[in-house]
Amino acid sequence: MTVASLNETHLSAILNWRYAVKKFDATKKIDASTWDALESSLVMTPSSFGLQPWKFIVVSSPEIKAKLPAVSWNQSQPADCSHMVVMAARKQIDVAYLDRFIQRIAAVRSVPSESLEGYRQVILGFINNSAGRHLAWSSNQAYIALGQLMTVAASLGVDACPMEGIVASEYDKVLGLEGSEYQTVVGCALGYRHPDDKYAEAKKVRFEASDVIVHL
Ligand SMILES: Cc1cc2nc3c(=O)[nH]c(=O)nc-3n(C[C@H](O)[C@H](O)[C@H](O)COP(=O)(O)O)c2cc1C
Repeated sequence: MTVASLNETHLSAILNWRYAVKKFDATKKIDASTWDALESSLVMTPSSFGLQPWKFIVVSSPEIKAKLPAVSWNQSQPADCSHMVVMAARKQIDVAYLDRFIQRIAAVRSVPSESLEGYRQVILGFINNSAGRHLAWSSNQAYIALGQLMTVAASLGVDACPMEGIVASEYDKVLGLEGSEYQTVVGCALGYRHPDDKYAEAKKVRFEASDVIVHL
């Protein structure tokens, strides 16, 4: 299968249109089909080994969103956006989780799980060698989902604000994650920019490509 590609001009326009929204238009909601596409981008996020060590909590309930600014450094985006996505990372990658993943590969690809034993052993070695560091690793994977979500949103004309200015432990309480296998890592507010948000016109501040890209 081939896919149509964006041209460079269109891509550049999308990347420049996107900015971290400070003020959302609380009256504008993302429609269902656009939302489905955004959820697909979360599900389709690549991860190391393909392990997908995450949950994406989608908050669209006005009551729950209203509780979030108080635990987000008083930022208004989680309340005024259309959908607030919270990336939660898996605290432990245990053998049961690995085996669930192996079973999933076997089912999706119609292969016997025994044929995946070599791959299972490789992942098991990684799990054992990184004991105590699983959450940091899972969090890294969750950030890949954040990046993909932001870019896909911009491609669809949906605004976003990535949010680390949140109190993760308080989010865990509000979202019911306390005591679960997952914990809050980062959030992404999605919706539509308010016409008064002056940050939309602010010039992008980036180092020169020559400062950050090294060609060898
Ligand atoms: C992981 C991450 C966390 C961020 N957290 C916040 C946040 O809590 N509140 C906010 O207003 N902006 C937040 N930002 C936005 C950045 O400040 C912004 O992306 C950066 O200044 C570049 O500006 P631009 O995205 O508008 O091009 C965050 C960005 C990233 C990537």
